[in-house]
Amino acid sequence: PARYPTNLLQKDWSKRKLHYGTDRLDYIKKVHDVEVLPDDVWLVTLPKCGTTWMQELLWLVMNNFDFETAKREHLELRSPYMEFDYMINNDLETCFRPIEQLSRPRLIKTHLSLPLLPHQIWDKKPKVVYVARNVKDAIVSEYYHARNVGAFDDKTLDNYVVEEIEGTKLHDPFLHITEFYALRHEPWLFYTSFECMKMKLRQVILDVCQFLNKTIDDETMKKMLKHLSFEEMKNNPKTNHIWELQQVRAKHGLQPEGQEFNFIRKGQMNAYKQELSPEVVNKVDNWVEWNLKDLNVTLDELL
Ligand code: A3P
Repeated sequence: PARYPTNLLQKDWSKRKLHYGTDRLDYIKKVHDVEVLPDDVWLVTLPKCGTTWMQELLWLVMNNFDFETAKREHLELRSPYMEFDYMINNDLETCFRPIEQLSRPRLIKTHLSLPLLPHQIWDKKPKVVYVARNVKDAIVSEYYHARNVGAFDDKTLDNYVVEEIEGTKLHDPFLHITEFYALRHEPWLFYTSFECMKMKLRQVILDVCQFLNKTIDDETMKKMLKHLSFEEMKNNPKTNHIWELQQVRAKHGLQPEGQEFNFIRKGQMNAYKQELSPEVVNKVDNWVEWNLKDLNVTLDELL
């Protein structure tokens, strides 16, 4: 397999936090040994990068464009988020049941970084899809998501973003993205971005079909573009993670219908410029520039 860019190894990562720290080491060890099937499709993203959008697209391509089932069943049940069960139930014995019990071919969503994925990924070579997004928009989107699930209700967007970039950030977005970017020419990996999906969704659908050896006719393409449009997905209860939200809120002892939940929120590119104050935009720009400087890659290239 392709190697990571060597300059990644020279970077000082000492101040970084791992996505999963040692408190979750037992879980990560279990993930290492998860069985991978050769006809699986693994969708890997950072949170808020267009995962749900691509997940619905992939599920439809993999399932003969079965719009009826897609409108009837929650996306999370058709295509589980691997880490979710453990987050909610904390049970190492049962946490992989949702993916083990899924009918084949399985579509599995994960936010884990490349080195933490099951080791069989490298032997069984299932198809892997990676969706990147401008981290500046993803971080704003993350704020609204965290507020929606009840993580806090008194923090401003500016404060959240500054806290995240000044050290408490859960994921290292730059490492997460660039590791997959480095592998983008591998035949088993399809690398794309939220921005590509926004600008040329039709082409992304065609590329995904080709990647998965499927064909699509004009009529179905029209249906896909409509079904995957922002307006349709925003009004589709099966793609708005209502099922997942109910579980998260119950875990925090919150009422299921405590507040209006807008999972599919704004769906725009570069909206961070309007949403953050000019000082925070400046901080975020510097943060991104500092982080990408010695990775020999620009933000535009990653998208
Ligand atoms: P915003 O909060 O910026 O609106 P994820 O699924 O990885 O959590 O990503 C969620 C982000 O994707 C949200 O971004 C959401 O609005 C956006 N999104 C989801 N479906 C979309 C669609 N059909 N068109 C455009 N954006 C979409």
